[in-house]
Amino acid sequence: MAEFNRKSDTVPKPPESRENPTVGIAPSPSENIGQKRLADFDLDGKVFIVTGGARGLGLSLAEALAETGGKVYCFDREPKADEGWNEAARRADKFGGSLHYKQQDVQDTEGLDRTIAEIADKHQRLDGVIAAAGVQHLSPAQEWTRDEVNRMMDINYTGVMMTATSAARQMFKYKIHGSMCFIASMSGTIANKGLLSPVYNSSKAAVIQLARNLAMEWSPIRKDGTGGIRVNCISPGHILTPMVLKNFEEVPGLRETWEKENMMGRLAETTEFKGAALFLLSNASSFMTGNNLVIDGGHTAW
Ligand SMILES: NC(=O)c1ccc[n+]([C@@H]2O[C@H](COP(=O)([O-])OP(=O)(O)OC[C@H]3O[C@@H](n4cnc5c(N)ncnc54)[C@H](O)[C@@H]3O)[C@@H](O)[C@H]2O)c1
Repeated sequence: MAEFNRKSDTVPKPPESRENPTVGIAPSPSENIGQKRLADFDLDGKVFIVTGGARGLGLSLAEALAETGGKVYCFDREPKADEGWNEAARRADKFGGSLHYKQQDVQDTEGLDRTIAEIADKHQRLDGVIAAAGVQHLSPAQEWTRDEVNRMMDINYTGVMMTATSAARQMFKYKIHGSMCFIASMSGTIANKGLLSPVYNSSKAAVIQLARNLAMEWSPIRKDGTGGIRVNCISPGHILTPMVLKNFEEVPGLRETWEKENMMGRLAETTEFKGAALFLLSNASSFMTGNNLVIDGGHTAW
């Protein structure tokens, strides 16, 4: 038996972008100009999935999509979302969008596929995904076991790949041209001073590379109307989230080190990434694909 499966005997090629240009993703200027304020950012009636959406960064990004009219399904492995989630859901209601919660582990590929298909079938569409579920663990390289490495890669990399492919299947099925945003990290392109996280950092590098490759495969709009899915990453610098607060407990003085390491002299709040997520998931970024927005207070710029 072959070590890896492929559905056809020949090796398929990615679609030729020139033969399958992505025209028509954004509304034409004549539709937009003078009709509505910032129409390119409008997500009214669109349906999204945000993994890791129970708390932290995922929740803030989900809220950004709901505030602009999106119906947003937050997936998380936790049985219940954080307290702040209910408050965010109430706020979303006020803005005409909605937040919904599904307990769904990104390591459970079959469950992920089923839950994403149920959502797409219910709404007869799926417009995009933010893959923010991720875990961090600090320890020296030589202490990592094979199982631990596999577990972290399974959540941080394979979980993103499986979320994206499940979502793409539905977006192809309903011929929805949309957008995906993977939450990588500035740690995907640098080693962090004062932090031993070899596997986390490589998992994020893998995510950045995955976005480029999926963008090449899915961005062109094929003759049958499928495709037109843009894929990008956001690479945040250090943000004050439960994940990072745990790092501060584990490594005394780390907060001060990190605050000194960027040009802003402070760490980020989760809300400071909402604009970028909305940009990437909406038509405002209709010419952006296969790339990585680094938002790190200048951390990697000096
Ligand atoms: N906090 C930072 O400084 C920072 C910086 C760069 C990138 N990131 C990335 O941002 C994302 C969100 O991180 P955060 O800081 O908000 O962390 P967080 O721990 O506060 O939130 C992560 C969420 O992902 C969920 N999750 C973990 N494993 C899961 C799984 N297998 N299936 C489904 N859900 C799962 C957790 O339950 C949690 O709700 C992560 O991908 C993280 O790597 C964080």
